[in-house]
Amino acid sequence: MKDAAPQPIYLRDYTPPAYLVDRVHLTFRLAPHTTRVISRIAFRPNPAATSREFFLHGEALRLIRARIDGAEITPELTAEGLRADVPDAPFTFEAEVEVDPGNNTALEGLYMSNGMYCTQCEAEGFRKITYYPDRPDVMGVFTVRIEGPEPVMLSNGNPVAQGAGWAEWHDPWPKPAYLFALVAGDLVAHSDSFTTRSGRHVDLNIWVRPGDEGKCAFGMEALKKSMKWDEEVYGREYDLDLFNIVAVDDFNMGAMENKGLNIFNSSAVLASPETATDANFERIEAIIAHEYFHNWTGNRITCRDWFQLCLKEGLTVYRDSEFTSDMRSSPVKRISDVIDLRARQFREDQGPLAHPVRPDSFIEINNFYTATVYEKGAELIGMLKRLVGDAAYRRALDLYFDRHDGQACTIEDWLRVFEDVTGRDLTQFKRWYEDAGTPRLRVTEEFDGGTYTLHFEQQTPPTPGQEKKRARVIPIALGLLGPNGDEVMETRVLEMTEARQSFSFDGLAARPVPSILRNFSAPVILQRETTNAERAFLLAHDTDPFNKWEAGRALARDGLIAMIREGAGPDPTYLDAVQRMARDEGLDPAFRALALGLPGEDDLAQTLFEVGHTPDPQAIWEALERLRDARAATMEETARGLYARHQVTAHYRPDPDQAGARALVNAALAMITRRDGGAMAQAQYDAADNMTQQLAGWSCLLQAGTGDRATEAFYAQWKHDRLVIDKWFSLQIIHAAPEETARIAARLTKHPDFTLRNPNRFRATLGALAMSPAGFHHASGRGYRLLADMLIRLDPLNPQTTARMCSAFETWRRYDDVRQGLIAAELDRILATPGLSRDTTEMVNRIRG
Ligand code: ARG
Ligand code: ZN
Repeated sequence: MKDAAPQPIYLRDYTPPAYLVDRVHLTFRLAPHTTRVISRIAFRPNPAATSREFFLHGEALRLIRARIDGAEITPELTAEGLRADVPDAPFTFEAEVEVDPGNNTALEGLYMSNGMYCTQCEAEGFRKITYYPDRPDVMGVFTVRIEGPEPVMLSNGNPVAQGAGWAEWHDPWPKPAYLFALVAGDLVAHSDSFTTRSGRHVDLNIWVRPGDEGKCAFGMEALKKSMKWDEEVYGREYDLDLFNIVAVDDFNMGAMENKGLNIFNSSAVLASPETATDANFERIEAIIAHEYFHNWTGNRITCRDWFQLCLKEGLTVYRDSEFTSDMRSSPVKRISDVIDLRARQFREDQGPLAHPVRPDSFIEINNFYTATVYEKGAELIGMLKRLVGDAAYRRALDLYFDRHDGQACTIEDWLRVFEDVTGRDLTQFKRWYEDAGTPRLRVTEEFDGGTYTLHFEQQTPPTPGQEKKRARVIPIALGLLGPNGDEVMETRVLEMTEARQSFSFDGLAARPVPSILRNFSAPVILQRETTNAERAFLLAHDTDPFNKWEAGRALARDGLIAMIREGAGPDPTYLDAVQRMARDEGLDPAFRALALGLPGEDDLAQTLFEVGHTPDPQAIWEALERLRDARAATMEETARGLYARHQVTAHYRPDPDQAGARALVNAALAMITRRDGGAMAQAQYDAADNMTQQLAGWSCLLQAGTGDRATEAFYAQWKHDRLVIDKWFSLQIIHAAPEETARIAARLTKHPDFTLRNPNRFRATLGALAMSPAGFHHASGRGYRLLADMLIRLDPLNPQTTARMCSAFETWRRYDDVRQGLIAAELDRILATPGLSRDTTEMVNRIRG
């Protein structure tokens, strides 16, 4: 017999909660398998409610007893929660339940990680801790008492009192249950403090397992910078006397913004020069900022329901990207963000998992913590700011914080503050939140008697459940260059609102070269017929760093497409233009390193698919290899010159200048390795005193097929460090030849250090397989089989991570019939697994289509 299929829930069915919570008192008696949770909750009927039904969410709880206003009750229990008759007036509900954190491998609710207790409640994990209206529009003031032998016991807010074996916490700010947190264990703190601009003294701690104290200093600096930045740029101050961050090893996502007690995946906070790369440091700075910024955008103002997730995530990602732009190089940050957006969000938008930034239905909300909600959600904020201007954006945000502080809000509330501040009608803009899919923006041009005209046409392909797409408002930042490379028109923002629209510019002496969509002013795919010569011209002359990079990227991509489709050789225009760019010492090394990057295999597969060519992953990989070889040959002297010139000799610092120099040096090393077989890479590996240089050396050796000795040495050196060993698992797979990728990944899943219990390790191994298209899509089907086998094994332990990783299959419709057949068989095999989680069932069903 089959279980009844889980039903989707719809945004249009939203109703206000029947009862509101004033105060919550929780007592935890910690024990690994029998933790008691005793709750006392003050409820009152919600005057705005449409129903009087009293229902509390609760899953996998053992109910010991329940009372209403002191009298024992026998509530009706279901798999989803509890129902009871209650007075038509304020009342107190009490319950005592038992949970088993020691066996909680799903890492949702209260669980144990390396002997320490921790929680993850977003989105719907609190219901696995006790009975509660587990929805973000119910906000209460929490007091928490923790009893247990653990030396450190933390919860949200401020410490009230503590004694031997107990600690009590109080959070004065009303919050939804998803922001609740508890941590207990043998922890040590790296401490500091911050004084807010109005003079509040805030104690700051990063709590880690003993032995990791030396890896907190960078995260602490990032936290202080974030606190200062939010005061200066958004006028937002911190609102408690204490801010705690805890690092845990077993965590499904990056980090979590629980009020006053952020919980982090240890990979998103721990770093030292010896164990973390420049990229790791930058990511840590961004995630610390992101979680801190949630204190205002997420916590003080939260979401009414989970359909509004982008309200807090899109805005907070936008804020953390502004922060990184201010701390580091703004163009480099923008280029990196767009690379990531195209690789993850455009991919999602083009496949069976496409959904609006604000979805209108879901089965499992955890499946919607996506690149669309987060990264495209952030792009929408950027567009809004571009449309209304910086000053109006700031006024709208001030109004948002003023008007909605303490509330649970919607996208309508968010857009209304912009309408009220600017008088603008944002009805059309709202389509960006409601319609899925990436618009294609086609451009043609005309030049006649000094007048230059651009004709734009927008069109968005259908996505699941949305056949017809409406025209959106698209801000198009445009500049014009003259034939000698000078800018003849500075950047201005065109506002396209129709399906087809033209814009003219007159008084031009000669036909200009347009620089369209500067700084990537809208998340669209620009389609324009142009020549290699014009792309090379823009790579050399564009004053907009993003479009300068984009020109080089397009040149490389077009050349690769010709190599794959027509068997062309490497494009000499590209080789020449990229060499000039690389040698231009007036350009930031970090920019040059990015511009030496090539389009990814997956990006090329999508591009080929769009032009009606069935992508062959092996052929794509071979074309990239040929281009890299050709480039290494023509640029040999240049690469050696860059390698010598940009060596960092100063003491290691993970700052943007040093990191940029190392990125360029390592891009040069990759080219040199194609000529010298790895001598230079081995020397760098042997001499490295930081992880960036060590890992780059080893990666080059793996690429060259001469990495065995380093692979062994690396393991011997780092076997005690989980985060470094994750890199050891990944890189062997990522740099394998396609023939070997799945075999190496399979071998690593049998390594004694492989475990299904740690999401980082699972992602390091199977995520690396999925991110290596030629190996993953190997014609034998062995890549697909291995991933499906492992997903089937992981699902009973950790549905959330399993479901997320199913997206490796989302591109399957691009490929040939044989590959599609192989993938369909694996998807069906997963679906046929008895007891498959709702998370994974939803994902596989959507992918299968
Ligand atoms: N709110 C967190 C963040 O973006 C993400 C937590 C999501 N967790 C989950 N299980 N869906 O910072
Ligand atoms: Zn977030």
